[in-house]
Amino acid sequence: MAGARKVLHLLTAGKFFNSYIAYVSYEFRLTNILSYSALPLLVFSKIFSHEALETYLPKIQLVIQDTLRVWSSHPGSISVYCEAQKLTFRMAIRVLLGFRLSDEELNHLFQVFQQFVENVFSLPVDLPFSGYRRGIRARETLLKGLEKAIQEKLQNTQGKDYTDALDVLIESGKEHGNELTMQELKDATLELIFAAYATTASASTSLIMQLLKHPAVLEKLREELRGNGILHNGCVCEGALRVDTISSLHYLDCVIKELLRLFTPISGGYRTVLQTFELDGFQIPKGWSVLYSIRDTHDTAPVFKNVDVFDPDRFGQDRTEDKDGRFHYLPFGGGVRNCLGKQLAKLFLKTLAIELASMSRFELATRTFPKIMPVPVVHPAGELKVRFYGLDSNQNEIVTETDAILGATV
Ligand code: HEM
Repeated sequence: MAGARKVLHLLTAGKFFNSYIAYVSYEFRLTNILSYSALPLLVFSKIFSHEALETYLPKIQLVIQDTLRVWSSHPGSISVYCEAQKLTFRMAIRVLLGFRLSDEELNHLFQVFQQFVENVFSLPVDLPFSGYRRGIRARETLLKGLEKAIQEKLQNTQGKDYTDALDVLIESGKEHGNELTMQELKDATLELIFAAYATTASASTSLIMQLLKHPAVLEKLREELRGNGILHNGCVCEGALRVDTISSLHYLDCVIKELLRLFTPISGGYRTVLQTFELDGFQIPKGWSVLYSIRDTHDTAPVFKNVDVFDPDRFGQDRTEDKDGRFHYLPFGGGVRNCLGKQLAKLFLKTLAIELASMSRFELATRTFPKIMPVPVVHPAGELKVRFYGLDSNQNEIVTETDAILGATV
């Protein structure tokens, strides 16, 4: 496993660091719920199966279209990272969990969730005004809000037109004679939102930034959509979006792959050494925690030429730079604990790219692009301010009433 040398990057030892990692893992690993409830991993593969994705897709598309309409009708610029966070939160709440919250309830829950996320990586020191205490408080409020939403969902099953991830979780518990308690449901719900939120918001923001920086890529994407009858006269044709259709769009696939190579949201992950081994002359003892770096792997893998250049064609049929080796490209991690939601994440990003190409013209509202910060997930250091304009079915800009009045008076 030559690639493993790249993957295994930094060794960590020491009580403090390990206990901190344990705290983060204990609190937030979705699959912890498996050990409490003995639900098989199969349940999670059901949640993210091809069939499930097919039912989520129209909902994902609706959430994205609504959001783009709001962005386009905004008279000024919008702050993309913050809005992308709201968008992925909304996707998790409405699509994955099927909660029917009002916009007001959703916004409130989002604010509390943000407070929780901001304090996730705080030291576990429980003092008044500490980040840890704020995080715990936000978590409690969140869990109360989630409990209310779950209760309503359990009582209100009428008029439901599709099965969401939470339904699968509840049903599978029953099937295995292991009905999930309310506490388990709340934990699973929170962890699902947490896993989907920051990573997908980061990648969505990077997508918009790269499409702005590379208009030729956006144009090539539009050509591919047009060629496949998806971008027909500028609008996404009703019923045209299916998971298989999206999977067959090769250039779109290259764009998303390249995005996740160069702007991989998560920089790495932790593993515990189960058996002492040697690497490059160093002995790594059993029981140590090791950190593998996704970002360094992507930066140093010899298969990628001009690593700093955003070049989707590197994954095209002529070059296929990723074809050699299993561990050069791992935006979703590697091994048995890799990302469970990767198909959903890719589907979401591809749908966003399709809708952006179809529904919007967008331009940077500042003179320069903000710098990129790599932690805790890749995100703009300042604000990424962008002005969005809606496009009609002929790909002409939609003129708002105010614009029309102003235009008439000039
Ligand atoms: C672009 C978006 C995403 C990226 C880049 C990403 C990346 C990752 C990575 C690198 C890991 C493994 C960390 C490790 O090695 O320990 C991971 C784990 C995980 N991800 Fe994602 N993720 C994304 C979106 C999602 C979404 C939308 C979901 C669905 C809710 C999700 C659910 C999970 C879960 C449940 C795990 C834990 C798997 C386990 O421990 O067995 N992710 N993700």
